[in-house]
Amino acid sequence: MIKVKKRKFLLLPGDGIGPEVINEVKKIINWFNNKKSLDFEMEEDLAGGISYDKHGTPITDEVFYKALECEAVILGAVGGPKWDNVEFSKKPERALLKLRKELKLFANLRPAICFKQLVDASTLKPEVVSGLDIMIVRELTGGIYFGEPRGIKPIDNGERKGINTHTYTSSEIRRVAKVAFDLAKKRQNKVTSCEKSNVMEAGLLWREEVQELHDKEYKDVNLNHMLADNCSMQLLRNPKQFDVIVTDNLFGDMLSDQASMLTGSLGLLPSASLGAKNKDGKLRAMYEPIHGSAPDIAGKGIANPIASILSFAMALKYSLNLDNEANALEKAVQDVLDDGLRTKDIISKGTKEVSTSQMGDAIISKLQ
Ligand code: IPM
Ligand code: MG
Repeated sequence: MIKVKKRKFLLLPGDGIGPEVINEVKKIINWFNNKKSLDFEMEEDLAGGISYDKHGTPITDEVFYKALECEAVILGAVGGPKWDNVEFSKKPERALLKLRKELKLFANLRPAICFKQLVDASTLKPEVVSGLDIMIVRELTGGIYFGEPRGIKPIDNGERKGINTHTYTSSEIRRVAKVAFDLAKKRQNKVTSCEKSNVMEAGLLWREEVQELHDKEYKDVNLNHMLADNCSMQLLRNPKQFDVIVTDNLFGDMLSDQASMLTGSLGLLPSASLGAKNKDGKLRAMYEPIHGSAPDIAGKGIANPIASILSFAMALKYSLNLDNEANALEKAVQDVLDDGLRTKDIISKGTKEVSTSQMGDAIISKLQ
C-alpha cells in the first residue's frame, strides 16, 4: 500500500466527556495508521475550561497557531457549570468561537441521519423519521454571534442594556449558500433556505442573495425559501421533506439541535466546520460532535463516542478525500449497531449496554 504524506490532526478533547470520546477517536486513528499505513500524526492540547484552569485563558496563542498549521482540528466538547462564573471573554465557549472565527470556518455541516437500528429511539413516530437524511448547513462566522456593536451597557435610568447585532454581507451569504448548493447536487438536489425575511432586513438580504446565486449558477437545483419558525415546525411535522437546509448562525444553532433529536440521540451526530481553500488548495477544517460536554455523565465511561468517531469519518472525507476509509468507518458503526450494542443514551429493550471504550473497541473490530 502507498504511504500517504504525513498529516497532522490537532486533538482538542476539551471538557466533560470530551476526553473520553476523543480517546476512542485516537484508537481509530491508530488503527488506520497500523492497518492502512495511513501516516496520521496526532498532537493533543488544551482548549476550553481545562485550558482556562491551567493558563487562565480558554485557548492559548500557542494552541491557536497549532490549529492554524494542522491538517484539521478534532474537538471534543467545551464548557460546563464549573466555569459559569468566569468572565464572559474567558468562558470555555470562547475557545470554540475563536477557532471558528479566526480559522474562517464559515460553513458548518450538520447531518441529521436516522439510523434504521435506532428508529425507536426518536420521540417521533417511526414512520415520520425512518430513512431521514437531512444536511443542515449553518453559517458559522457571522450573524448575531459576532456582529458589532455588542455588550452590556449602563443606560440613563439606572438600567442596563444588552446589545447584540445581527449582520450579514452579500458575500458571507453567497459563500455558504454555494456550499449548500454543491452538497445538494450530490444528494437529493434540494435546498431549503431559512431566515426571517418577514421581520429582519438581514433575513431579506439572505433570501435575495440565495435566490440570485441560484438563478445565476444553480438553476438545476431545487430551491425553496422558508421562514425559520415555519422550518422549526416543519421539522417535526414532516422532516423528510428536507434535503439540505441552509441558514444563518443562530437559526442554524437551534434548528440543528432540533433536527438532531429526530434521530434519537445527540450522541450520534457529527459535524464538520469548513473554511475556504487556501492558495495551496488546503481546506481549513474542524470536526466535532454536536453534543456538548455533558458534565453530568463525565468520567463515568458511559458517553457515546459515535458522534466523535463519525466526526473523524467526516474529516477523512472532507479534509483528506479518503472516501473509502470514511465509508468503511461509517459502515463499522452501522455493523456495531446491527449487533445490538448500545451506549446508555441509546439503550432499548433487547440491546446490550456497552461502555464508551467497549463501543470504540467494537467499532474497531468491525473495521478489521
Ligand atoms: C454548537 C454550540 C455552540 C454554539 C456553543 C457551545 C458556543 O451550541 O456548536 O451548536 O452556540 O454554536
Ligand atoms: Mg448548539
